Amino acid sequence: MLNNSEQNNIVLVGFMGAGKTTIGKLLAKSMGFSFIDTDAEIEKEEGLSVAQIFEKKGEDYFRELESNFITNFSRNKCIIATGGGMPCYNDNITKLKVLGTVVFINTSFDSIIERLKLSQGSRPLLKLSLGNEQGELLSLFLERQQIYKAFHKVVAGDSNPSFIVEEIRKIVSI
Ligand code: S3P
Repeated sequence: MLNNSEQNNIVLVGFMGAGKTTIGKLLAKSMGFSFIDTDAEIEKEEGLSVAQIFEKKGEDYFRELESNFITNFSRNKCIIATGGGMPCYNDNITKLKVLGTVVFINTSFDSIIERLKLSQGSRPLLKLSLGNEQGELLSLFLERQQIYKAFHKVVAGDSNPSFIVEEIRKIVSI
């Protein structure tokens, strides 16, 4: 069995609505890799949606599940789309780097707001503000930008997904 340092996955990080899932699926298809969405895997394991986990068990519990998931992940040749908060807790940055090459999808706040309006219900942290008060969400966005910058491989996330997939393929050496 491969040890951790030999894992050769591609891990996508970025804010909610940055496009990790859409791009991840396309990238997986184009590279012949498997696609993994950490939120979806956690939902399967718990038998609850992310929104229900937040509501019934709390955010800290969800953050533990996220850390456990990546700590125990032993597969290779996967494109892993992470939840937006994944790199922000429990030294997950170090754990994500063990899984393979991490790419930060850097999407502008304006594009994110437009996309999130379409998927408000499934994202508990959006109870914050998508109406008139986007201030809190902007603060979270700016705070997290500082954290995502720890990953040196970055693609702009505002253009069309197929273009972004090609950009990622250029900067990863798998
Ligand atoms: C979260 C992002 C969500 C999900 C959860 C918390 C966050 O994933 O993990 O609602 O803290 O930013 P997406 O980035 O796929 O929306």
